[in-house]
Amino acid sequence: MKSKMDQLGLHFDLLARSEDPIVANGYGKSSTGLSADGAYSMIAERLIEYLSPLEDIDRLLEVGCGTGEILCRLAAEFRHAKGLDISPKMVERAQSRGLDVSHYDGTLFPFESSTFSVILIYQVLVNAPTIKRVGQLISEAWRCLEPGGVIYLGALPHPKWSTFPEHRSRRGLRARLASQFAGGALTCYSISWKDLLSIADRLGAIECHVFRSPISLEGWSSKYDFVLRKKAN
Ligand SMILES: C[S@@+](CC[C@H](N)C(=O)[O-])C[C@H]1O[C@@H](n2cnc3c(N)ncnc32)[C@H](O)[C@@H]1O
Repeated sequence: MKSKMDQLGLHFDLLARSEDPIVANGYGKSSTGLSADGAYSMIAERLIEYLSPLEDIDRLLEVGCGTGEILCRLAAEFRHAKGLDISPKMVERAQSRGLDVSHYDGTLFPFESSTFSVILIYQVLVNAPTIKRVGQLISEAWRCLEPGGVIYLGALPHPKWSTFPEHRSRRGLRARLASQFAGGALTCYSISWKDLLSIADRLGAIECHVFRSPISLEGWSSKYDFVLRKKAN
């Protein structure tokens, strides 16, 4: 039987067949009200606006980069820009546009400790199957983050929707996951701020804040961002 991470990778392999980057990256066409280029340009502009004032940030990693829409728009701002994803098809698509993206199995990142100054995890935690996976992902990002660096967790659901520890939804992504894997529905853990704060606390983040995302896509529920900063040496 396939692990939950393999199933999730397969789900995104199937989505990656779509020509439309919004659909391929699992956003659901109707949720943005913008063209793919319009939506991603807005996301990238706002991220650059947020990150630009930070000092000494020249090495970016995007975990869960999908087809590379955000990464390709941010890459020029960094000396090095890399991506990681659990879906081989997503990795192929991102590589075909010249991006430095690798596949991994969802456990350990294939990088030395303290390699990156910014680690972006955008619209990924919303699909994590369990809180344990959320913790593992953030811990790995923390290990690979250099002192003074930031982890930017983007596009988290509205806290009102995160009060249930775990849930099965009959609509949206969870229903699609269920229909594609007859062997059983993949449920996603619904993360809360309390979870994120306790992870940040355990890791010893010197600064963490949550804010309403400056990126406002019409009808989109994932409107909150969370940033963790590591103490500089
Ligand atoms: C909703 S898509 C978002 C893609 C991209 N960040 C964007 O916003 O366009 C989520 C992506 O994260 C990948 N993914 C899910 N869980 C992951 C994990 N634990 N580590 C790395 N990639 C993951 C999926 O394969 C998929 O490509």
